[in-house]
Amino acid sequence: MTDKIIIFDTTLRDGEQSPGYSMNTAEKLHLASQLEKLRIDVLEAGFPSSSEGDFEAVQMIAKKIRSVEVAGLARTSKKDIDAAWGAIKEAANPRIHVFIATSDIHLQHKLKMDRNQVINKAVEAVKYAKKFTKNIEFSAEDGSRSDRDFLSRVFEAAISAGATTVNLPDTVGYAIPGEFSDLIAHVISHTPNIGKAILSVHCHNDLGLATANTLAGINAGVRQVEVTVNGIGERAGNTSLEEVVMALHTRRNYLPYLTTIDTKEIYPSSHLLAMITGIPVQPNKAVVGANAFAHEAGIHQDGVLKHKTTYEIMEPATIGLDTNRIVMGKHSGRHAFRDRLKGLGYDLSEGDIDHLFKRFKELADKKKEIVDEDLEVLVAEEILRVPDTYRLKYLNVISGTATVPTATVQLEIEGKVEQDAEFGVGPIDATFNTIAKITGTESKLLHFSIDSLTGGTDAQGSVTVRIEEGGAQTLGKGNDPDIIVASAKAFINGLNRLEHLKRNSSFPNSSRG
Ligand code: KIV
Ligand code: ZN
Repeated sequence: MTDKIIIFDTTLRDGEQSPGYSMNTAEKLHLASQLEKLRIDVLEAGFPSSSEGDFEAVQMIAKKIRSVEVAGLARTSKKDIDAAWGAIKEAANPRIHVFIATSDIHLQHKLKMDRNQVINKAVEAVKYAKKFTKNIEFSAEDGSRSDRDFLSRVFEAAISAGATTVNLPDTVGYAIPGEFSDLIAHVISHTPNIGKAILSVHCHNDLGLATANTLAGINAGVRQVEVTVNGIGERAGNTSLEEVVMALHTRRNYLPYLTTIDTKEIYPSSHLLAMITGIPVQPNKAVVGANAFAHEAGIHQDGVLKHKTTYEIMEPATIGLDTNRIVMGKHSGRHAFRDRLKGLGYDLSEGDIDHLFKRFKELADKKKEIVDEDLEVLVAEEILRVPDTYRLKYLNVISGTATVPTATVQLEIEGKVEQDAEFGVGPIDATFNTIAKITGTESKLLHFSIDSLTGGTDAQGSVTVRIEEGGAQTLGKGNDPDIIVASAKAFINGLNRLEHLKRNSSFPNSSRG
């Protein structure tokens, strides 16, 4: 049995479908390229039958990413499998991933099928998918709550039909590590042809055990793990890529398995995802949280100063975390600017650097010291978060003690410029009213908060909004030294995400894995 663990990343499928993490095609392509640099083995790019937008994104990723397998998810219907194949067929190494639930709870209440019908469906689907490619993964949804003997029968049938990977998901994050490795051992010993396929696990984190269950799976004989960057995913998320990879890396003495991951790309990947989605990583998140390498307690600081290994089991540099803080300003040249962006993990084209450098100079005219956080938001807003529909062109606000706050806003809406003005109880209210009038949005503002990116009165204001329309909620982020401009950008970012969701809203909730 090989000791290589296949890293199957589902950030762009299971991760992207969780609230707040939806991305447009350009954002997905950015992230996919970074995942390729991270050297994952398989990239699950989406669920092509769920919407036209998902189909198009998977198709573009499949065309672009050449050194990593690209997978498309499908239920067992021919329509789903056709869509998955249609989207991934131009990949250098395409994989069709079909799934059906196998637990009695799902059979009875969701599928309304008996066990034999489920086996037949699975076999039919794998055989149909096999017409397109040899590379087929079969997943038994809710596997961890399925009858163990039935699960083994389903896997045996799927492998006989041609599945090359069989995946055992802990769909609802119910498993406990010891119990999960027992289940895996049972499946291995009761699936006679298991040696013809790679056994995989896919864990959710509802009880905070996704990484523990995944490692238990590896110890029990699993050779593929399904993970997401920052552990994003349905509900409490999926197994986090960085936790599993760094556990294997740090504890090689106990877990003698290899991955092809370039660990130096872990932090840039985590950071890129946070920048694109605007959702920060929780500070105490293992491996990639802001506090993961911070030592507060005096005794710890003393120990680390004497010898790092007293309290540090990983080096920040191993995950690509650059701890040098460099301050830039209006005299900094293009060369230094490009180098600093590279240090922060952004390998951008010359065209992007030219564009950003102009914006950097504009910012440096307003703000004396430009720190890493300022550069990050510049990249996020100008390059990573590509607007789908609305872009702020111009904003003028009048407010004060002796006037009715009024905002004049110019927006570019799919190439056309529109302008209007409105009043409000304050300058932000006036700005939002004007944007709402121009866009005709019926969304409700659920949450609004302003933070400062760094210290000082010249710090950039960082605004977060949460908006809701027709049951769909999105987050919007905006940053600017002027908090009214930051607020406008945040609202517009939220509206762009809402538009994106509306265009991709045919995803059936009941089958989202
Ligand atoms: O959680 C799950 O069961 C899934 C499957 C589709 C693999 O996401
Ligand atoms: Zn899942």
